[in-house]
Amino acid sequence: MTTSPIFGALSEKIANRTARAGIIGLGYVGLPLAMAIARSGFPVTGFDVDPKKIVAIEARRSYIDAVTSADMQTEIDAGRFAATSEFASLADCDVIVICVPTPLTKHRDPDLSFVEATSRSIAQHLREGQLIALESTTYPGTTDDVVKVILEKTGMTSGKDFFVGFSPEREDPGNQHYHTATIPKVVAGDGAEALELMKSFYGAAVKTVVPVSSNATAEAVKLTENIFRSVNIALVNELKTVYAAMGIDVWEVIDAAKTKPFGYMPFYPGPGLGGHCIPIDPFYLTWKSREYELPTRFIELAGEINSAMPRYVVGKLAEALDIRAGKALSRSRVLLIGLAYKKNVADIRESPSLRLIEIIEERGGRADYHDTFVPEIPATREYQALKGRQSVALTDEALAGYDAILISTDHDDVDYRRLAESGALIVDTRNVFARLGIIDDNILKA
Ligand SMILES: NC(=O)c1ccc[n+]([C@@H]2O[C@H](COP(=O)([O-])OP(=O)(O)OC[C@H]3O[C@@H](n4cnc5c(N)ncnc54)[C@H](O)[C@@H]3O)[C@@H](O)[C@H]2O)c1
Repeated sequence: MTTSPIFGALSEKIANRTARAGIIGLGYVGLPLAMAIARSGFPVTGFDVDPKKIVAIEARRSYIDAVTSADMQTEIDAGRFAATSEFASLADCDVIVICVPTPLTKHRDPDLSFVEATSRSIAQHLREGQLIALESTTYPGTTDDVVKVILEKTGMTSGKDFFVGFSPEREDPGNQHYHTATIPKVVAGDGAEALELMKSFYGAAVKTVVPVSSNATAEAVKLTENIFRSVNIALVNELKTVYAAMGIDVWEVIDAAKTKPFGYMPFYPGPGLGGHCIPIDPFYLTWKSREYELPTRFIELAGEINSAMPRYVVGKLAEALDIRAGKALSRSRVLLIGLAYKKNVADIRESPSLRLIEIIEERGGRADYHDTFVPEIPATREYQALKGRQSVALTDEALAGYDAILISTDHDDVDYRRLAESGALIVDTRNVFARLGIIDDNILKA
């Protein structure tokens, strides 16, 4: 392929690690990425509109579990990482990666306002020869139809004056086996040169890059991965309710089914979907599909089943209180174990535990929680009434004050044996007691 001079210049800077990388949005995705890029030898500038993050980084203090403060200090001291909210410095960057949020609006439509605002900031400082990569999860077409369009309003053209690409993020919070550099990374670009640049830039920081033919394809890859999870989780949640009615334990079924060496992959039921990705991302495709007058029935159905889970679990809890203890939920105190959406992390975004507390209290009960990862419930958009509530310590005295314990997240730092020995009625949505070999009449699964 004959190459353009701007392509040659940027390729060389990437090859010899003199290209300056700018990472916009220093959250769960952006901060670990900034570290991985810095570690591979590139000078990195992080940009964020949140001044608290800039202050923390300047104090060499990480606020994301996947990045240690020591690692951050190493990169800062080596001169490979600094953070700023001064967007004029974008002009100094050769490669700019966008890692800003892509939530849903109140009406469950894509909220691209962060991506658009960031693209406009980049456009203000856009110069010839830059590569702009989007990492935020979004519907197919966003990179080319939104980001590129905003950048081209400058009069410059993608593929001729600058380059545009998409590479989805695959972070798995709390995973001890994989981290940014060892997770294969899908990359795409608008045109052959953009793709080559995406391959060489990301290839420097991660072990394996997986090129695909277009930005829209790469966007679809990410959505496919998350839709796959959402649908399969919904399936086992549905099976849980059906098997429970038949007196069959779904966890025992899954444990036996997964011994099949091919054609089966275990997914586990729970109290509902949580986290920033799985409950939200699939609806980006649903929204885009409307343009083609095509329904996304699997996505909608999975969403329906998964979002019905907290109410199902509270129903089981109320039934257990009634039958086992002769108590009404409306006059009961319940202790939830685990507020985060996933074990051993502090992330409460979209956590079903918050919904569980809300439903229990709507029904007249009172719910407290224990979670050492979340000492206090911070401000959230949806659960303002819960702000400021604090994690209850698991003392004998505290435990004696509850009519039931509801396991919503199975953090490893909880003494489950002690909970079982407290004699309280326990409703376990994670099968943690059975996994630990603790069988007791007081423990029910839901
Ligand atoms: N968290 C995950 O595990 C995960 C995994 C895969 C993909 N993603 C996707 O990655 C993207 C980012 O998610 P996240 O979890 O890192 O979000 P986050 O909320 O942790 O971080 C986003 C950061 O962007 C900053 N920001 C917002 N607007 C900005 C602007 N205009 N300019 C500069 N900074 C701005 C925010 O202050 C925040 O620090 C989303 O699209 C998400 O769907 C997240």
